[in-house]
Amino acid sequence: MATVARFWRARNLRDSPFFQSALEPSEDARYPIHLFVGRIAEAERILAGMDSSDSRSAVQGAPGVGKTSLAQYVKAKAAEEGIASTEGWVTLGSGAELENVLLQILGGVYFAQEGTGVPEFQEHPSMKAARQLLLAYEIEGGGVSFGIATISGGVSRSSSAHAGPGAVLVHIPRLLRDLAGIALQSQALRGVLVHLNNLENPTEANAHKAAQVLRDLRDHCLLVPGLHFIVAGTDGAVRQVISGQPQLRGVFGVPEILSPLEPQEVRDLLRRRYEYLKIDKDEPVPPFITDDSLTDLYRLFQGDLRRTLQALEEAAKRLAPLGEHPTDPMDEQALRRVLRNVYQQMVRARLDETALRHVERLAATVGREPFTRADLAEAIKRTDRQSRTILSDLQANEIVQSVGQEDAEGPGRPAELFALTGTALLAFATGPLATETG
Ligand SMILES: Nc1ncnc2c1ncn2[C@@H]1O[C@H](COP(=O)(O)OP(=O)(O)O)[C@@H](O)[C@H]1O
Ligand SMILES: [Mg+2]
Repeated sequence: MATVARFWRARNLRDSPFFQSALEPSEDARYPIHLFVGRIAEAERILAGMDSSDSRSAVQGAPGVGKTSLAQYVKAKAAEEGIASTEGWVTLGSGAELENVLLQILGGVYFAQEGTGVPEFQEHPSMKAARQLLLAYEIEGGGVSFGIATISGGVSRSSSAHAGPGAVLVHIPRLLRDLAGIALQSQALRGVLVHLNNLENPTEANAHKAAQVLRDLRDHCLLVPGLHFIVAGTDGAVRQVISGQPQLRGVFGVPEILSPLEPQEVRDLLRRRYEYLKIDKDEPVPPFITDDSLTDLYRLFQGDLRRTLQALEEAAKRLAPLGEHPTDPMDEQALRRVLRNVYQQMVRARLDETALRHVERLAATVGREPFTRADLAEAIKRTDRQSRTILSDLQANEIVQSVGQEDAEGPGRPAELFALTGTALLAFATGPLATETG
C-alpha cells in the first residue's frame, strides 16, 4: 500500500482520484458532495416534489451511472431546506425482508432527527422508544452534524428475541408516525428524508419479494406526513418493482431516468477530484490520461462511471513502473497496453476454458458491434438451446450485456441485442478503444 500512496504523491495527490464509492452528503466526509457534477434538472425536480408534507421519488438508471450519488446530492440540498436525513441508506438489496427494511427505515428517521441535536427530539418518549428498539436490534448510528448520521450494521437476528418479529411490524409504523409528527411540529425540521438504495437487477424471485416489500411499505409508512422517500435502483428493477405495480406507480409518480453524464462532465468530475486531493495547492496535478482517451474509455463502458473509474485506477497503479516519463498522461495506446493484461486476468478468473474460448471468438467476430443470440450461436457453433445457457452465464459474469432490441421488422417480437462489456473488450478486442463513429 505504501508504494501506491507514494505513487499518488508523485502526482501531487494525497489519495486515489479514481475512487468508486458514492459521494457523501456532507462536506467534511472523505468523499464530499462538492465533487458532484451535473444532474441539476434531475435534482431540482426531486427537490420540488418535497415541497409538500410527504413525497416519494424514484431514481432509475444503469449500474454505475450515478444513482446513489444523485440521491446523496439531493439529501445534501434537502438538508438546507430543513429536511434531515442520514449519510447512509436503507438497503433494498436482493431478498431484503420487510421487518429488516422497516427497522432500517426507523434507524434512518431516528438518527436523522437525533443528528439535528435538537433537545426536544432527544427527550421525546417516542424517540426513546425508538432508541430502545434500535438498540435491541443493534442498529447503530453515528455522526452529529445537522441532518447527518449513518446507519451501520444490519439487523441482528440473534437479538430479535428481545421484541420478536411481530412486535417490529406493530411498533415501527406507529413510531415512524410519531417521529415524523415531532419533526413536522417542530420549528427545527420540515421533515425527514429516507433513502432506499440498491434496488438492483433482482432475480425473478427477489423481484417478486421486493415488490411485496414495497407494497407493504406503502401501507406501513410511505404515505406518512413528514416523511420523504427516495428510491434508487436499476432500470429493470424499478420498472418491475414500482412502475409495473399499479398500487405503487401512482404513489411514486414518474421516475427520474438517469442517462450517462456527458464526456465533458466526466472530465470536470476528474478535475474536481484532482483539485480536492491536491497536496500542494499551488502546484498542478499532472493528468493521468488525455481527455480523448478518457472519453474513449468512458464510451467503452457505455457511461458506467464506476467501471470507468475502476479501469483508470487499475491503469494508473500499473503505469508507474512502465513509463519512462511517468507523469505523461496516458494516451490510448498506453491505456490499452496496461489494461489488456489486467482485464484478461479479470476475465480468466471468472470463466472456465470453454467460456473463455467463446469470448475470444465473439471478440474476434463481433467486436464492439451488437449481436443477437442467433449471432452468438453461429459465432461459437452451438445450438440455440446451448447458446441460451452460455449467454446467461456470460451476462452473469459481466462479459456480455443487454443493449436493447433490434428495430422491429415484419411480424414477431424484435430480437434482443447484446454487446460485449467494456471489461471483455479491454481484455480481448483488438484495434482502437473507440470506433470512428464512437
Ligand atoms: N454526478 C456525479 N458527480 C460526480 N461524481 C459522480 C456523479 N455520479 C456518480 N459519480 C461517481 O461515480 C461512481 C459511481 O456512482 P454511483 O452513484 O455509486 O452509481 P450507481 O449508484 O448508479 O451505481 C462513484 O464513484 C461516484 O462518486
Ligand atoms: Mg448505487
